[in-house]
Amino acid sequence: MAGIRLHVIAPLVLVAAGKCARDPSVYVRKCADSVLPKLHDLRLEENTVGIEEIIGILLNDSSPCVVGAAAAAFSSVCPNNLSLVGRNYKRLREVLPDVEEWGKIVLIGILLRYVVARHGLVKESIMFSLHGTWNHRSEKDCSDTNSALDDNGNNRSL
Ligand SMILES: *[C@@H]1O[C@H](CO)[C@@H](O)[C@H](O)[C@H]1NC(C)=O
Ligand SMILES: *[C@@H]1O[C@H](CO)[C@@H](O)[C@H](O)[C@H]1NC(C)=O
Repeated sequence: MAGIRLHVIAPLVLVAAGKCARDPSVYVRKCADSVLPKLHDLRLEENTVGIEEIIGILLNDSSPCVVGAAAAAFSSVCPNNLSLVGRNYKRLREVLPDVEEWGKIVLIGILLRYVVARHGLVKESIMFSLHGTWNHRSEKDCSDTNSALDDNGNNRSL
């Protein structure tokens, strides 16, 4: 339904996605994950908060596969809303080992950015050089500075 690029139905799709996000079925919740970036692509300001709220719900999901997909949605829709990560940080850390491979990579990137944003880096940290690499890469790619994850473009395919 979200595939139909009609702004008129966007609010309906958003409501449906919110319902799906609370559905007992893992498969349905995962579908909500994949609908959100498409909804976000419509660039309707009034939907932004709603979309981010649903991503917050899905990041806190009990199923690792839903969390993995939510991480992908997060990095394509609102990579800078780290308060969503902070709220669910403990849960995300716990679920990380069980997320499937690709979702795991995305999620590690998100958690890393959260920790760095929150605590900064000590010069001696091994992460310091890694962080430098990220910056270097996003400059090179001339993309927006906010997300190394977006540089991959992988989330766009969802
Ligand atoms: C982050 O998302 C939440 C939705 O749960 C929203 O209330 C908040 O305004 C967002 N913050 C930013 C900085 O976009
Ligand atoms: C995450 O889910 C648990 C129940 O599974 C709930 O107790 C908790 O309040 C939720 N946290 C957030 C930030 O929504």
